[in-house]
Amino acid sequence: MAATAEIAVPRSVLFVCLGNICRSPLAEGVFRSLVGEAGLSERFTIDSAGTGAWHIGNPPDPRSIDIAAKYGIDLSAQRARQVVPADFTRFDTILAMDADNLSTLRSGTSSGTARIRLLLGDPPMDVPDPYFGGPDGFEHVYRLVRSGCEQFLDTFDRPA
Ligand code: 4NP
Repeated sequence: MAATAEIAVPRSVLFVCLGNICRSPLAEGVFRSLVGEAGLSERFTIDSAGTGAWHIGNPPDPRSIDIAAKYGIDLSAQRARQVVPADFTRFDTILAMDADNLSTLRSGTSSGTARIRLLLGDPPMDVPDPYFGGPDGFEHVYRLVRSGCEQFLDTFDRPA
């Protein structure tokens, strides 16, 4: 059956923002939670990274940890890292949070097998950087990230 065969292949996805402390850790946590609810945890490798290096080794921003916790998702064990060249072959799909990071990713590799696209692609939309704003920005980011992750998961056929 085509649908079962499709999801039987392990998938790998890397969520990318600028600092890897606000948006992409949230996307990683939300997508891991959705995949878990769907009973597909063993089918997916999920990670996040930043195009910038400022926060390497740091936990997510407390405001991201708090908004995730509000929706039952624990980000506290995550640590920021920067995108490395191996990511472009290690991951099937790299999902950028905004057009700037999409452009950085696309100009950062001339080889590699990963599909690189926006998390919110239909219509193309940025998940705005909430770092310099208030807590409301994180609620907005959560909603956008959740919607993008649901849409992305729906692109995979599910086993019957
Ligand atoms: P993120 O947010 O890209 O969603 O992790 C940011 C975090 C830190 C900075 C910028 C954006 N910064 O300039 O340090």
